[in-house]
Amino acid sequence: MHVTLLSGPNLDLLGQREPEVYGTDRLSDHVRRARAVAEAHGWRLDHVQTNDEGALIDAVHDARGRSDALVVNAGALTHTSWSLHDALAAFDGVVVELHLSNPAAREPFRHTSVVAPVADGLVAGMGGLGYELAIEAAVRLVAARAHDGPGKEEP
Ligand code: DQA
Repeated sequence: MHVTLLSGPNLDLLGQREPEVYGTDRLSDHVRRARAVAEAHGWRLDHVQTNDEGALIDAVHDARGRSDALVVNAGALTHTSWSLHDALAAFDGVVVELHLSNPAAREPFRHTSVVAPVADGLVAGMGGLGYELAIEAAVRLVAARAHDGPGKEEP
């Protein structure tokens, strides 16, 4: 089984960028812990970080037929990218939206997510722990789907 973790714009700056909001861990620290959770379940994890909207969409396309789940922290593209929304809508597996911060408790422009309507669920506001929780959720949602079929996604 396979999960792709996608990181959008500016997440490459984690550790330096607004540490009071996003913490001091680097993206590589989050990916390492996410991978450990995936591997504990016998899953493989690929990670893609890009500052480019088109490359993020290409990464969603690449995951089609290859990944059982996507965990997506799209950065600010979460709030704007209908192209990303459409790409995720064309992905058959489980989609978990992920944020370090809680966008709902921040500026109004962060209150809209175009990822949310095509995600199975959301992990937000948990800081770095969210990376581990999101992988755990993805693994369990895929297992539940395999057991119950689509539409009955009780973890
Ligand atoms: C973020 C929240 C977004 O609003 C913001 O643009 C980011 C990071 C988060 O992980 O909290 O870049 O996705």
